[in-house]
Amino acid sequence: METSLDKSNGWRRWSRPAILVLTVVGVTVGHMIVPVTRQVPHDLFVRLYYLPIALGGAWFGLWGGLGTAGLIILVYLPHIVLVEHGPLTFGYLLEIPVFLGVGLLTGLIVDRQAQYRRGLEGQAETLARSHRELQEQTRLLLEKEAQLHRADRLSALGQLSAGLAHEIRNPLGAIKGAVEILEEDYPAGHPKAEFYAIILKEVKRLNDVVTNFLNFARPVSMRFVPVDVREVLASLEGLVSGEARAHRVRIFTRFHGGPSLVMADEALLKQAFLNIMLNALEAMPAGGDLAISTRVADPKTVGVMGSDGREEWLEVVFDDTGTGIPEEYQGRVFDPFFTTKKDGTGLGLAITYRIIENHRGIIRVTSQPGKGTTFVITLPVEESGER
Ligand SMILES: Nc1ncnc2c1ncn2[C@@H]1O[C@H](COP(=O)(O)OP(=O)(O)OP(=O)(O)O)[C@@H](O)[C@H]1O
Ligand SMILES: [Mg+2]
Repeated sequence: METSLDKSNGWRRWSRPAILVLTVVGVTVGHMIVPVTRQVPHDLFVRLYYLPIALGGAWFGLWGGLGTAGLIILVYLPHIVLVEHGPLTFGYLLEIPVFLGVGLLTGLIVDRQAQYRRGLEGQAETLARSHRELQEQTRLLLEKEAQLHRADRLSALGQLSAGLAHEIRNPLGAIKGAVEILEEDYPAGHPKAEFYAIILKEVKRLNDVVTNFLNFARPVSMRFVPVDVREVLASLEGLVSGEARAHRVRIFTRFHGGPSLVMADEALLKQAFLNIMLNALEAMPAGGDLAISTRVADPKTVGVMGSDGREEWLEVVFDDTGTGIPEEYQGRVFDPFFTTKKDGTGLGLAITYRIIENHRGIIRVTSQPGKGTTFVITLPVEESGER
């Protein structure tokens, strides 16, 4: 459909040449119908030719100026030669190089100015680009600083809690031993025997929680082998498909074609991805979309994040259309025990963060409350990976 902008561009494209031609025709007609005997008005029409020449140069540069002068010469020369001008003929012929000179000069000046303006525009564009790049670098640096800060907090918290968990586990062992001895006095069938069972069950539960936490705080030993990220993601997609259907969530995958091998502990990498996918499902109680994709990482992003420039990095992106994370919580989701869920432990993303960190990777989150959340994981690609 033709827009009003198209119309005005079309009008502008044709109106200027039309004005030039009409002016040349108008001046020529005037010049021809006023006889040579009325010399002053006759000459005035010759002078009027300079108007379209100057306009042609101003609107279309060098070729506009020369072109208009040429057009004028085409109609002017036969008139001078064919119509009897007497002794004035030579003066009228001298007008021709002046037409060309004026066309040339106006065109050159206008072209030079246009060139100068383009140079300025180019410089302004370069400046704007540098400014955008600077802003992007600043944003990445701030993000990196926040990550370092978070890593600091995590390690302090991890050490503190690991010490605390240890302190809890020892007395728990003693309680369990003592209860087991006392239990012998109350054999099965005794009215108080069930209380011992309760104590033992709860002690075991506490012990499990502490053990799980210690596993988080003290990373388990890892076995790194080349792992294909696409295969891991595809297998996880199958794993959560039932759960996704129950949540009325559609999962889309789009994997890039380049290398996708990373050195990883496959079980841990799966756990890291799975935590993010389960969170996404939980964030879409009324259904939605989860898009999982892989891509080559922008070297600029990774560059600031500490790459030595020799490695290739890939990114795994989890993009959901869930509830989103309120701005004030976005910096806390990776903290251990941060949860907004009634029965959440708040360890899911803390564990994911730790795993990705142990794989020399980076995890970032962006979220728009009410619209959705995006987690991006950047991992170094295994260099010998030919896939
Ligand atoms: N995709 C997401 N959309 C919205 N909020 C999220 C998303 N992922 C994480 N969150 C927020 O981050 C918090 C922490 O997540 P994390 O996985 O660490 O713990 P959790 O899911 O609450 O508990 P757990 O994983 O132990 O069941 C969540 O409680 C939730 O508020
Ligand atoms: Mg979770």
